[in-house]
Amino acid sequence: MTAILLLLHLLGATVWTGGHLVLAVTILPRVLKGKDVAALTWFEQGYERIGMPALVVQIVTGLWLAWQKMPSLALWFSAEGGPVAQLIQAKLVLLGLTALVAAHARLRVIPRLSPATLPLMGWHILAVTLLSVLFVVVGLSFRVRWGV
Ligand code: HEM
Repeated sequence: MTAILLLLHLLGATVWTGGHLVLAVTILPRVLKGKDVAALTWFEQGYERIGMPALVVQIVTGLWLAWQKMPSLALWFSAEGGPVAQLIQAKLVLLGLTALVAAHARLRVIPRLSPATLPLMGWHILAVTLLSVLFVVVGLSFRVRWGV
């Protein structure tokens, strides 16, 4: 079961983090240069169909994997949980920050998207992309010790 959960978690990570890196590194610069709102909307609408389900898969499989590692909610949020609890907390903080930035973009920025507000949208995309990479770094830290 753990293997299937990890497989789904990694597939979701490729879609979520990979999709945001493609958006931030290749699409966004072109959109900003050409002030091309339609191109951004076109990408977002297509990506959303696979990106949002991927995020849901990440949350469900991530919580499940975390429970397998530490089957006690009290320990997740206590100093006694050690490094594993700290990493679970870090994942949850990243999730909260992602939800805040995404909700702000969806409710405040996207409804008024225009050539003038494109740079603001760009900052939101960069923030979610950075958070998505941090999700991967923290995820790997469950099994990898960084440094020499
Ligand atoms: C978009 C969001 C997320 C991404 C991109 C992501 C990515 C990753 C990656 C790449 C790994 C490494 C897997 C490995 O070492 O084989 C991982 C592990 C892990 N993630 Fe996530 N993750 C996300 C969300 C979450 C959430 C919300 C939780 C919930 C607490 C979570 C909990 C875990 C756990 C417990 C592991 C360790 C699995 C293991 O080694 O057995 N993740 N994650």
